[in-house]
Amino acid sequence: MKPSLRFFLAGFLLLILQTGLCYGIKWIALSKTSLALALNQTQHCKQLEGLVVSQVQLCRSNLELMQTIIQAAREVIKTCRKTFSDMRWNCSSIELAPNYLLDLERGTRESAFVYALSAAAISHTIARACTTGDLPGCSCGPIPGETPGPGYRWGGCADNLNYGLIMGSKFSDAPMKMKKSGSQANKLMHLHNSEVGRQVLKASLEMKCKCHGVSGSCSIKTCWKGLQELRDIALDLKTKYLSATKVVHRPMGTRKYLVPKDIDIRPVKETELIYLQSSPDFCMKNEKVGSHGTQDRQCNKTSNGSDSCDLMCCGRGYNPYMDKVVERCHCKYHWCCYVTCKKCERTVERYVCK
Ligand SMILES: *[C@@H]1O[C@H](CO)[C@@H](O)[C@H](O)[C@H]1NC(C)=O
Ligand SMILES: *[C@@H]1O[C@H](CO)[C@@H](O)[C@H](O)[C@H]1NC(C)=O
Ligand SMILES: *[C@@H]1O[C@H](CO)[C@@H](O)[C@H](O)[C@H]1NC(C)=O
Ligand SMILES: *[C@@H]1O[C@H](CO)[C@@H](O)[C@H](O)[C@H]1NC(C)=O
Repeated sequence: MKPSLRFFLAGFLLLILQTGLCYGIKWIALSKTSLALALNQTQHCKQLEGLVVSQVQLCRSNLELMQTIIQAAREVIKTCRKTFSDMRWNCSSIELAPNYLLDLERGTRESAFVYALSAAAISHTIARACTTGDLPGCSCGPIPGETPGPGYRWGGCADNLNYGLIMGSKFSDAPMKMKKSGSQANKLMHLHNSEVGRQVLKASLEMKCKCHGVSGSCSIKTCWKGLQELRDIALDLKTKYLSATKVVHRPMGTRKYLVPKDIDIRPVKETELIYLQSSPDFCMKNEKVGSHGTQDRQCNKTSNGSDSCDLMCCGRGYNPYMDKVVERCHCKYHWCCYVTCKKCERTVERYVCK
């Protein structure tokens, strides 16, 4: 092939790839915002990285919400990495925001998870901030209509899920509602997965109680509706990630919809994560498909899960190395009331993928 033709084809391919891109989670770049930025004047909104025009407008009209959204961006990064630390794809590229790698720019399973988690995290953080009194626009959630059962009574401060859902979706869905941003199919996919994230968040609202009564007798319990921790919500979403459905953008009547690729007799379920592009196996480094590979990743020789050396290293084998761990040991209890310990060093064998 002539070099010029090769260049032409490569450029053409890049163009096709890029028209499918949608930068709907660039706002995660807010995690890098300096803690020193005051954010008390509307002109500060322009200084924030990763926001689309409509998000800057939301910033201007809801300045007091921005510290909470910045906190949500940090939570997304921390939780995503933790949830996937035992997988070949370990969410590391999310830290490159707003300059994502292809694993998050293409409409893959991985991007499905990240959009769902981001949408859940932003609403979660706002709902919690209402409870702690950090936001002037909201306070505790409503007291439920039903009675909580004998020996229980409503009290405390409920997480304001409704406010979180309204303000969170306004902000996180804004990029997908713009006319010029990626393909229609990608935007539909991201909006769907964001909604799945919020559904899981809604389902996590549970009754939490505190004991009262003479010397901890717990004769009366005060209860409120509280959200589960984000890491638990992320684990639910990881299960959905593992069973996500591949979809295609298909005309039905006068409009086009996302429908399951293989079983096209049923519509997409509101509870399932969906994706448009298959992912690589993430075994070898291949930047063209957004794979960082698993060379030098730590693996677990005794595990039989996804972090096992066999699966993590894709059968390439692994190298052992010795690692020192410092532990508290020979602890003694002193009357009254403290404990002293010594520090002991122990060497453990660890393994990294070849
Ligand atoms: C904004 O915050 C900064 C730093 O906290 C402070 O110096 C400044 O006076 C504030 N401006 C307004 C308009 O409140
Ligand atoms: C995540 O994966 C990347 C690429 O394989 C690797 O460089 C990084 O060290 C991994 N992070 C952790 C915490 O294992
Ligand atoms: C390896 O996996 C085993 C079994 O799942 C677990 O008990 C152990 O704590 C893991 N080791 C490390 C270093 O993560
Ligand atoms: C790992 O092995 C145990 C015991 O053999 C089994 O109960 C468990 O289901 C296995 N887990 C996986 C992920 O294969």
